[in-house]
Amino acid sequence: MASETLLADPATRLDDLLTEALATPGLAGVLAADPGRGAALVTGAREVAAAAFVLEEPAALDVAHRALYVLGAQQGWSPVGAQRDNEHDLTLAAVRLELERAFEAQLARSASLPEDLPTDPESFGPWLEHLALERPVPFEGPSMGEFYREHATLEQLSEVVAQRSLFFLKEPDPWTMVIPSLHGRAKAGLIDLILDEYGWGRFDQMHSTVYEVLMGKLGLETGYDHYFEQTSWPVLAGLNYQAMLARHRRLCRRMYGYIYLVEADSPGSMKNYLAAYARAGIDDPEVLTFYELHIDADEGHSDVALNEVVMPVVREEPAAMAEVARGVLEGRWVHSLLSAHLHACFSAGRSSLRAGGTAR
Ligand SMILES: [Fe+2]
Ligand SMILES: [Fe+2]
Repeated sequence: MASETLLADPATRLDDLLTEALATPGLAGVLAADPGRGAALVTGAREVAAAAFVLEEPAALDVAHRALYVLGAQQGWSPVGAQRDNEHDLTLAAVRLELERAFEAQLARSASLPEDLPTDPESFGPWLEHLALERPVPFEGPSMGEFYREHATLEQLSEVVAQRSLFFLKEPDPWTMVIPSLHGRAKAGLIDLILDEYGWGRFDQMHSTVYEVLMGKLGLETGYDHYFEQTSWPVLAGLNYQAMLARHRRLCRRMYGYIYLVEADSPGSMKNYLAAYARAGIDDPEVLTFYELHIDADEGHSDVALNEVVMPVVREEPAAMAEVARGVLEGRWVHSLLSAHLHACFSAGRSSLRAGGTAR
């Protein structure tokens, strides 16, 4: 078990120590002069990783996923004055690997592949579609779809929008990082999908811009990571999963599977959100457009992800089928963490935000 101070004390929580380290000018020199400090960070990461990803203690999962997120956020946009010198610091790289290795092992333990994985690429497509959308899995809890349709309040919808802004204001940045891992038709397919997410270069049509408009209409702040402190760790788990697949070349095939899962799942999810807004009496097009546009767009994206990315990959390299399937299955597991969290909070009348804050 991780020492209490690495989890609970704001002065010594691992995620806070990493935030401080990232903001330290000339961190490598500081750590060279004080080797104990760097060693303590790596040892601390190992302890937090064991408590989070082996023992699955909620407090440790909060620290571990916040730590992974602050390290991963270095790759994204930040204001001109942000400290950037420590992105590739060797101590921080070691910390990140300690956390990622344990997260990866937890994923392997929690979402094991079915034994009927096809050996023929042509039967893999329909099998993967079934795995993404219909196949029962042991870890799936209560459906949030039904909750949105029948019970969700506008306040609860706002909480979800605020927390998911950590992805949707940057959609689909992590996916671009696997473009160089592809070639030929599969590369063209992924670029086609990603360009659509970026509105084919038109600012007002970028999906992230449409999300920003939605947030503004709900009275939410639209700055990058504005809601990080209030975002619950199961949301961060989904983002850290993508960041991990994006930065390790050996995991890129899981990302192709994960992208397919997200796109295949999206039209149904978007219809559930729209039903919830309709029940709440919201008919403002600037709120609804983000959801409406995704019903059509993601039907197309799902088709492209399966037939123009995944299929060319597995036809050329049938051994990739297991990894692509793993991306779908692990994605379903990570998403189930969030569904379980939201369902437990909302059905008990509690906020889903970290520390029970408000999204407004
Ligand atoms: Fe989108
Ligand atoms: Fe999409």
